[in-house]
Amino acid sequence: MAHPLKLGVLISGSGSNLQAIIDNIEKGALEASIRIVISNNPDAFGVTRAQKHGLPAAVLKHEDFNTREDYDAELIRLLRSKEVDLVVLAGFMRLLTPVFLKAFPQKIINIHPALLPSFPGIHGPKDACEYGVKFSGCTVHFVDEGIDTGPIIIQSVVPVFSNDTTETLAARILKEEHRIYSQAIQFFAEGKVALFGRKVQIKNIEETPVIALHNPSLAGF
Ligand code: GAR
Repeated sequence: MAHPLKLGVLISGSGSNLQAIIDNIEKGALEASIRIVISNNPDAFGVTRAQKHGLPAAVLKHEDFNTREDYDAELIRLLRSKEVDLVVLAGFMRLLTPVFLKAFPQKIINIHPALLPSFPGIHGPKDACEYGVKFSGCTVHFVDEGIDTGPIIIQSVVPVFSNDTTETLAARILKEEHRIYSQAIQFFAEGKVALFGRKVQIKNIEETPVIALHNPSLAGF
C-alpha cells in the first residue's frame, strides 16, 4: 500500500460502520488509513471502538461552541491537521455548514439507510417500513448542502418482507451498509470515482448483471 487514502471518520453513535471500515483496513482489503475519528457525542460507542484499535479519537461537543460555523471551523482544523483526503460520515447525526462543505469540495461522503431519494432524514428504515415499500436498502453519496441529496456513488437493495419490523429491516440494511461503504471508499482509493454534474461514474467497474427484482416473486409472468 504505497499511499493509502487518509480518512477522517465522523460518528455520533454505535460506530458499526466505522468498525467495518477498520476491519476491512486491517484485513488489507481496503487501501486506506483512518487518521482521526471525531464524534459529536461523548458517549458514542464508536469512540471506544476507535480507541481499541489505537486510532486517534476526538469528541467535539456542540455546547462548547457558540455557532455552527465555529464548530465546523474546529472540525476543519482537526481534519486538516491530519491531512485527511476523504471525510467519511458514518452515522454522524449533525448538519454541516457551507463553510465545511467548501473546505472539502467533493471529498465528503455519507451513508444513508434507505434508497435515496426515498426516505431521507434520520428514520430511513422506519419510514420505509411504514410506507409499505417492497424494497429498501442503503446509499453512499456525496454530501452537498441538502439533506441526503448529493450525487449517488453506490446503492444496495434489500427486500422488505411483510413481517418486517423497523428493527429487522434496519439490521438487514446495516449488513449491506458495512459492505458498500468500504467498497465506495476503495473506489476512491483506486481513483475510480468521477463526478459529472450530479451523476457519478465508477471507472472500469462492471455494472450489475441483474435486470430486475420482484417482491413478491412473479408467478408465471
Ligand atoms: C447507520 O444505519 C447509518 O446509515 C445511519 O445511522 C446508522 C449509524 O450506525 N445514518 C443516518 O441515518 C444518516 N441520516 P453506526 O453508528 O452503527 O454506523
